[in-house]
Amino acid sequence: MLILAIESSCDETACAVVADGVSEVAAELASSAELHHKTGGVVPEVAARKQVEFILPVIESTVNQTAAKLGLAPEQVKEQVDALAVTVGPGLTGSLIVGIEAAKALALAWNKPLLPVNHLVGHIYANFVDGTIIDPFPAVALVASGGHTDLVLIKAHGDIHYLGGTLDDAAGEAFDKVARLLNLGNYLGGANLSQTARNYTGPPLPEKLPRPLLQENNYNFSFSGLKTAVKRLTDKKNYPVGAIAKEFEEAAVEVLVEKTVQAARETKAKTILLGGGVAANQKLRADLVSKAGDGITVKIPPLKLCGDNAVYIASAAYFNQNYQPLEKVIPHPSLTISEP
Ligand code: KG4
Ligand code: ZN
Repeated sequence: MLILAIESSCDETACAVVADGVSEVAAELASSAELHHKTGGVVPEVAARKQVEFILPVIESTVNQTAAKLGLAPEQVKEQVDALAVTVGPGLTGSLIVGIEAAKALALAWNKPLLPVNHLVGHIYANFVDGTIIDPFPAVALVASGGHTDLVLIKAHGDIHYLGGTLDDAAGEAFDKVARLLNLGNYLGGANLSQTARNYTGPPLPEKLPRPLLQENNYNFSFSGLKTAVKRLTDKKNYPVGAIAKEFEEAAVEVLVEKTVQAARETKAKTILLGGGVAANQKLRADLVSKAGDGITVKIPPLKLCGDNAVYIASAAYFNQNYQPLEKVIPHPSLTISEP
C-alpha cells in the first residue's frame, strides 16, 4: 500500500511517499527555520505564509521523485497511490490548515481516501519506518519535542493510553530556553547546548540542579523549575557554560529516562519507543538503552527521522487507518496524544 503524506504542523513543509508503512519511496522537506532564528522563535503568521509558499513545490518534488523511483511519468503516480495522509494536530493552526487543505484538494482530485494523523503519534512511528519492529506491544513511548513531552502506553496500533506528560515546559523547550540563557543560540539551541555539554571536560558544577518530580509516583514531568534554577545560577555565579550545560542535560535526561523506564517496568512493556526532536539527544539515546536493561527493547529513530517530516506521518497512517470523510478532516490544535 502506497501512502502519500503531508506534514505542515509548524515551520517544516514536508511530503513523502511510503510503501506499507515501512519503506520510504520519496521524501521532500522545506523549512522556514532560518527566518525564525532572526525572531528567536516561530511567528505563527510568518510560518503559515512560508507553508503556503512551499507546499506545492514540495508535493510536486515528491511526486516527481516517486515517478523516477517507480519508472513512471509523474502523471501516472496518482494511479499507484492508495491513500493520502495529513497531520491534523497538534501544531500551529495557520500552518496545519495549509497542509490539510492541500491534502483535501489532492484527495478530491485523485479520488483517494484521506487519513488524518496526530503529529505526536507520527513521531512515535518514526521507529517503524525501517521495518525492523516485529510485535513490539505493549510498548511505552516517550515523545519529547519542542512543544510536548508525553509518556504513553501503546497496547496495539491505534490503542494508545496517556500515562503522563509535562505540567509546564516541554523538554525541548527547556533545552532551548536554557541554551538562550547560556548564549548558546536564540532559537532551537537545544542541540547546541547538548554539543557544548559533550565537549566540556572540566570539573563538574559544584551545585546539583534539581531533578523535578523524579521522586513522585506518577509519570508527569516539570521542566520550568529546572530552567529557573539555571537562571539563578547564571545570575549569581560565574560557572563555566560547559559545566552548567552538562549538569542541565544530566538533570533533564535523568528525569526523562527514569520515568520512562519506570513506566515500562510497571506496565510490563516489551518495548520502549523514543520519538520527537529531543530523541536526537545523544545522552538520552545512550542512557535509555543502558538503563532499560535486558528485558526491554529500546527502539530509537534514525537522526533524520527525529525532527518533523512526512515519512513517519505516512507510516503512522498505514498502521492506524482511521479514514475520515474529507469534511471531517480539520485541524485540531489542542488534540492530545490520548486521542490518536
Ligand atoms: O519534534 P521537533 O522537531 O519539533 C516539534 O514538534 O516541537 O522538536 C524540536 C525540539 C527543539 O526544542 C530542539 O531544540 C530539540 O527538539 N532538540 C534537541 C536536540 N535536537 C533537537 N534537544 C536536545 N538535544 C538535542 N540534540
Ligand atoms: Zn514534532
